[in-house]
Amino acid sequence: MNMEKPKVSVEEYLWVARFYDRMMKHVNYGAWSKYVMRMFDLARRDIRDVADLSCGTGRHLHHFIKAGFHCLGADISMPMLRVACSRPTVKNRLWQQDARHPAIKENSMDAVIMLFDSVNYLRRENEIRQLFEKVDRILRPGGLFVFDTVTEYMIRLHMTEYFETETWDDLAYERRSAYNAKTRMQYNNFSILRQGQLIRERHSQRIWTHKEMTGFIEKSPLTLLDARADFKKKPVQPRTERIHYILLKPKT
Ligand SMILES: C[S@@+](CC[C@H](N)C(=O)[O-])C[C@H]1O[C@@H](n2cnc3c(N)ncnc32)[C@H](O)[C@@H]1O
Repeated sequence: MNMEKPKVSVEEYLWVARFYDRMMKHVNYGAWSKYVMRMFDLARRDIRDVADLSCGTGRHLHHFIKAGFHCLGADISMPMLRVACSRPTVKNRLWQQDARHPAIKENSMDAVIMLFDSVNYLRRENEIRQLFEKVDRILRPGGLFVFDTVTEYMIRLHMTEYFETETWDDLAYERRSAYNAKTRMQYNNFSILRQGQLIRERHSQRIWTHKEMTGFIEKSPLTLLDARADFKKKPVQPRTERIHYILLKPKT
């Protein structure tokens, strides 16, 4: 191993993008996408145009396109989008955009999605408010915004002092997670070993409570239709690990 000082990445997903799909190989994106598609029955309009504002490597997007939706994928991370570009189904539908300022035409989408902790990457209250306002603008009346968040219960249970390592032929990584209960910030610290070089990358996520999130929604132009726990139709409870929020842009 090279004993040079490690390279420290200032950008989330700059290096993790290279092995994100391998790290997430246990995730059933097909079933997750179908779970979200079933929520579309709650929309007060037909759903055809769908924007994934944090599509990452395009795995949900792939399933939505396969299911016949007319989709566009956006993400703030160019390295994640580069991986998505290697998927023939999604490669011509990608844009680098920040979900807080999406450059998408007003009233042009029937549904907007942001899945797999993406909203936890918005760490300030004003960023969440901004997101809701922007999503409201791009949705058609009667359209839906579906996103999920991880709960503090899940973080305390699985991710407070979580540790994992993986080694492949081209690289190896170590991931150490930590949680600051005071600030409700959760950190994933990656050490990546690639061609003898050690690279460090840190991801920070804000763990929003259900009460906080419903408070933000109440103050937004969108209406909360449902909040579903743990990939079921059941309501949120103290032991819920992941919440999917289904928001409606009311018809005026
Ligand atoms: C955990 S990944 C999930 C990616 C993808 N949705 C999936 O299910 O695999 C979180 C994603 O959110 C993206 N992200 C974080 N902040 C963002 C922002 N402000 N605008 C757009 N994308 C953002 C990251 O670049 C990353 O691709």
